[in-house]
Amino acid sequence: MGQISSFLFVFLCLLGHEGLAKGVSGLAVNWGLQSTHPLPPDILVRLLKDNGFNKVKLFEADPGALRALGRSGIQVMVGIPNDMLASLASAVGNAEAWVQQNVSNYISNHGTDIRAVAIGNEPFLKDYKDQFVKTIFPALENIQAALIKAGLGKQVKATIPLNADVYGTDSGLPSGGYFRPELQNLMINIIKFLQDNGGFLTINIYPFLSLQADPNFPKEYAFFNNTASPLVDGSVVYTNVYDANFDTLISALEKIGFGRMPVVIGEVGWPTDGDASANIDNAKRFTQALLDRVIQGQGSPRRRTPPDVYIFSLVDEDHKSTLPGNFERHWGIFKYDGSIKYPLDMGNGRTIVPAKGVKYLAKQWCVMSPSAGVSDPNTLAQSITYACENGDCTSLGYGSSCSNLDAQSNASYAFNTYFQTMNQSKGACSFNNLAVITTVDPSKPPCRFEIMIDTRKQKASPSVYRSSASKIEGVVTALILGIVGLII
Ligand SMILES: *[C@@H]1O[C@H](CO)[C@@H](O)[C@H](O)[C@H]1NC(C)=O
Ligand SMILES: *[C@@H]1O[C@H](CO)[C@@H](O)[C@H](O)[C@H]1NC(C)=O
Ligand SMILES: *[C@@H]1O[C@H](CO)[C@@H](O)[C@H](O)[C@H]1NC(C)=O
Ligand SMILES: *[C@@H]1O[C@H](CO)[C@@H](O)[C@H](O)[C@H]1NC(C)=O
Repeated sequence: MGQISSFLFVFLCLLGHEGLAKGVSGLAVNWGLQSTHPLPPDILVRLLKDNGFNKVKLFEADPGALRALGRSGIQVMVGIPNDMLASLASAVGNAEAWVQQNVSNYISNHGTDIRAVAIGNEPFLKDYKDQFVKTIFPALENIQAALIKAGLGKQVKATIPLNADVYGTDSGLPSGGYFRPELQNLMINIIKFLQDNGGFLTINIYPFLSLQADPNFPKEYAFFNNTASPLVDGSVVYTNVYDANFDTLISALEKIGFGRMPVVIGEVGWPTDGDASANIDNAKRFTQALLDRVIQGQGSPRRRTPPDVYIFSLVDEDHKSTLPGNFERHWGIFKYDGSIKYPLDMGNGRTIVPAKGVKYLAKQWCVMSPSAGVSDPNTLAQSITYACENGDCTSLGYGSSCSNLDAQSNASYAFNTYFQTMNQSKGACSFNNLAVITTVDPSKPPCRFEIMIDTRKQKASPSVYRSSASKIEGVVTALILGIVGLII
């Protein structure tokens, strides 16, 4: 390195450092609720604050979460599930009731700092077969009207979280970005409406899914790091799919005359289990690089201003649908109990810290009885199936943390996850006398036999958690149209 360039290097580092010292204007994260045993909201709010998160996105207006977030200093984006769109679209009165109960109420009575309403979640996902195409825009119009009527038109902004499959690229390059032709007019109406009302666009980007879905996807390119064979787009060089994907949207926006439309990244993350590419090393590598970009205020080549970036997700959710893959239950940067999966530098000299005050059930596990033998393979198979249907066996599959267990331990794992999910209740470790309770930890690293958290002993929380297994949250089956093809 010559003197001038090393001077430049130091200078840039200082700049970067100053950006850091200016205090990481926003770490943002998604808080999902699809767990059989959700951590109490006050524990999670403390977890957010302890780790420097000052923005959070909820997928629905959960009363416990919204109350606990009151006067926390954390800004909230509250979501509206797709299954409510039809009703909200059908009458402005329904939207007014929603805003009254789920926004105004928390702002006025609980001091919750609600800043945005996310209407629907990836409503144009191809899997939904156009069922929300007719209702999404009227729902947006009605919610916006309701916000204005409630006097919140300025304070609370509207947005629609989109999957990256609403756009593609005709040249295979980000500069060739365009909106799906059948959605183009609707997208123009939505974007114009959002812009007129001071709202923003939200996009979910999943480099993990690019890698997971395509065996030929260049791994380094998923990790901000394909410096060896970058994607060259005119004068711009892309070393990662995250920027390329984001800029495809920006150029699609430019093409329809909305190049300055504010965009927020609503979901991005990396799961730690349930797939060969979903492991601690990959997740740590991706998430740290992502956080570093956020902390340094780094934008993309086409848009230098950094977007808000909501990491997906806060904690693992053991009740999510596994339709897209077993990894769906392992997106958390924390485990189900708020413990740390891997170290992370959160900026400002802060390292990630775990949840405090979490209570667990007794230190005991349910395992296959050593004396059970292999008497009746049918009974055993049925028992495992039953256990896995009601517990969480997503760590047992190929390439996952417990895929190397022998048949006996495999059965034990299934029995234990059922036992723990059932709050270690007496009858939950029987399985036709194939199972017994033990106080010896059967974990075989990296495979952990977990103990469930005790939600009864936690600080009382009045909220009632509904969890609908069918609700698809953050599920992205479709892939970055075109972007996969664009790589190298
Ligand atoms: C408020 O949000 C919750 C959670 O999504 C929903 O069940 C409820 O119906 C909403 N209230 C109104 C008045 O729409
Ligand atoms: C990128 O690759 C280089 C060279 O292989 C490596 O030293 C660096 O740690 C990588 N950075 C990230 C963010 O993965
Ligand atoms: C372990 O259990 C899972 C889930 O039932 C099953 O798919 C897998 O084949 C089993 N593996 C062994 C080694 O028994
Ligand atoms: C486990 O205990 C919690 C807290 O009492 C309760 O809400 C939940 O329904 C229980 N789950 C089962 C499967 O019994």
